[in-house]
Amino acid sequence: LQHFVTVKDLQNDQVKTLIERAIYFKNGGQIPHFTQPIYAVNMFFENSTRTHCSFEMAERKLGLRTIPFDPATSSVKKGETLYDTLLSLDAIGVNLAVIRHQKNEYYQELIKLNSTQKLDMGIVNAGDGSGQHPSQSLLDMMTIYEQFGTFEGLKVAIIGDLVNSRVARSNMQLLKKLGAQIFFAGPDYWYTNEFEKYGQHLAIDDLINEMDVVMLLRVQHERHEHETESNFSTVKYHEQYGLTIDRYQRMKEDAIIMHPGPINRDVELASELVEAPKSRFFKQMQNGVYMRMAMLETVILGRHLGGF
Ligand code: CP
Repeated sequence: LQHFVTVKDLQNDQVKTLIERAIYFKNGGQIPHFTQPIYAVNMFFENSTRTHCSFEMAERKLGLRTIPFDPATSSVKKGETLYDTLLSLDAIGVNLAVIRHQKNEYYQELIKLNSTQKLDMGIVNAGDGSGQHPSQSLLDMMTIYEQFGTFEGLKVAIIGDLVNSRVARSNMQLLKKLGAQIFFAGPDYWYTNEFEKYGQHLAIDDLINEMDVVMLLRVQHERHEHETESNFSTVKYHEQYGLTIDRYQRMKEDAIIMHPGPINRDVELASELVEAPKSRFFKQMQNGVYMRMAMLETVILGRHLGGF
């Protein structure tokens, strides 16, 4: 791949190859030796802890040279466009840009260039608005695969703030292709037509006993504008839609719970469950480093940057 911006076009064998490569790195497999220095920049226009630090760790483990970039002190603040910023970084010699941006599909103008545009950088999407979160989705697939060894026939519930979630969108697309059965739960107003072709919307109490994977989503208060949502009660949400201790105890013995983070304790789930035996939250974060190494390597090789 020249860029890694979405999971939409990934084939199942590509997903499996990425998972195998990430597991290889996790098991201490040899780090590739790139024959030229490769420079990367991490540009986070939305806040991040896990994705930002994890990409930086992945870059360091791969031996890439990371150029610091802080949107708050950059010339973006003077009105420079994202495209012009990237052109400048390309001219300076940066090869790869890992970008998180609030605008859905911000990456289209960076990868679909017309004949007069000369931008020549690999773009890795670290999350675009409510669009896609490819690295989160692939690390989630790795975590599920490590647990169950397959996706075929697994029952996966995606619960919560669906409409605002790039994690829900990326995961439902990959999980469906990989043969899992998807269910949704949470408030009706966060389940729109878009989700219907991926799975049924049920009450959490009607599905919790049957699921292999319970994937909780963060309630994204910062993306809520509507009046119904501004009257949001975290206590009521937890009671009606959250993973309470009672619901946790009704889960299948070998089922797992996942959450992309950051967690709203006592909203999406009871605080006591964050480090409970079925929780894979920190495994997800650990796996993220290795999956991001596999993704960066794919783009480096796709762009013939660092032949072995
Ligand atoms: N999962 C995730 O994207 O977390 P951050 O926003 O902290 O990067």
